[in-house]
Amino acid sequence: MEKKLKGLLAKLYRKNFLEKPELLYLLENITYRDAGLLFAYARKTRVKTYQRKVYLRSVVEFSNHCRNNCWYCGIRRENKKVERYRLPPETILACCASAYQAGYRTIVLQSGEDEFYTAAVLADLIQTIKREYPGMAVTLSIGEASREKYYRLYQAGADRFLLRHETIATDLYERYHPGMNLQQRLQCLKELKEIGFQTGAGFIVGLPGQTNEILAEELLFLTEFSPDMVGIGPLIPHPETPLGKSPAGSVEKTVILLALIRLLLPEVLLPVTTAVNTLDKYGWEKGLAAGANVIMPVVSPAECRRKYEIYKNKAGVDYAALPEIKKRVENAGFELDMSRGDHCKRLRPAAII
Ligand code: 5AD
Repeated sequence: MEKKLKGLLAKLYRKNFLEKPELLYLLENITYRDAGLLFAYARKTRVKTYQRKVYLRSVVEFSNHCRNNCWYCGIRRENKKVERYRLPPETILACCASAYQAGYRTIVLQSGEDEFYTAAVLADLIQTIKREYPGMAVTLSIGEASREKYYRLYQAGADRFLLRHETIATDLYERYHPGMNLQQRLQCLKELKEIGFQTGAGFIVGLPGQTNEILAEELLFLTEFSPDMVGIGPLIPHPETPLGKSPAGSVEKTVILLALIRLLLPEVLLPVTTAVNTLDKYGWEKGLAAGANVIMPVVSPAECRRKYEIYKNKAGVDYAALPEIKKRVENAGFELDMSRGDHCKRLRPAAII
């Protein structure tokens, strides 16, 4: 590896910060084969805070109805080929029971932007989960909503909220999210954080038109916003979408970005996302070796997994797969931690409206 790259990596490890031209230089010049030092720094950084622990989240996709029309997403409004479904609260609770019994202590409730689930319905569901499954953290991943709705969900007991910003480049954001607006997305993120949620942002790797310069801006945005969680994943083109014929995003680039994010945000909760694990059967191992510390198996009922097709062949597992997951994590040199796995600095603050 050339001297300049080595120097930049050492500086990044020491300072947890680089200027944009420095990040750009890294993104332009580092290759996956040559990224051993980057990954070693990223692992050392995660060990300082989270030791070798890997946290687990169980994801339940409770509705694939969506009012949005994102160009990459298989459950976009205009995809008429999707069989739409909504899980009734009882079924969601049954998923929660299975997850709890299997030992999961975080449930991620994920859906399209579906207004069928009002604040009242969701608040009731969250309260029931909190009552019936003590110690279970509840993460929401349900898209944009009003501050008031977010507040009610937090008051009901939800702990965390994932809302990827998808891309920080205004022109790309507007092109791929018709009728949506980046400022509004960022406003939602800001409000979630203010209200008190452990908040997750993140972007898609390999959107057509995404340059290394934009990726450097993604990294700077994350550094500045400093979310508690960051989810990134490669684009997986879905045939029934406008980006159906685009090339897939690169797993290797994604893994390099994971390592950079770990170094820029040493304490962040950083999952190896399902998209990485879908494109690469060693996705988890590669992500963990690059500083990721969370895995998020999709444990929705098999029937839902089939219909919640944001991209093809999305990886999913059964509740029973836990021993296998454990084996993979341990073989990769890490240990499964079945506690809630909160952000190391976050105690639950009182809500601010
Ligand atoms: N490929 C990769 N990621 C996708 N997402 C949605 N569709 C795709 C796709 N085709 C991501 C978005 C969204 C998250 C739940 O999944 O970033 O926020």
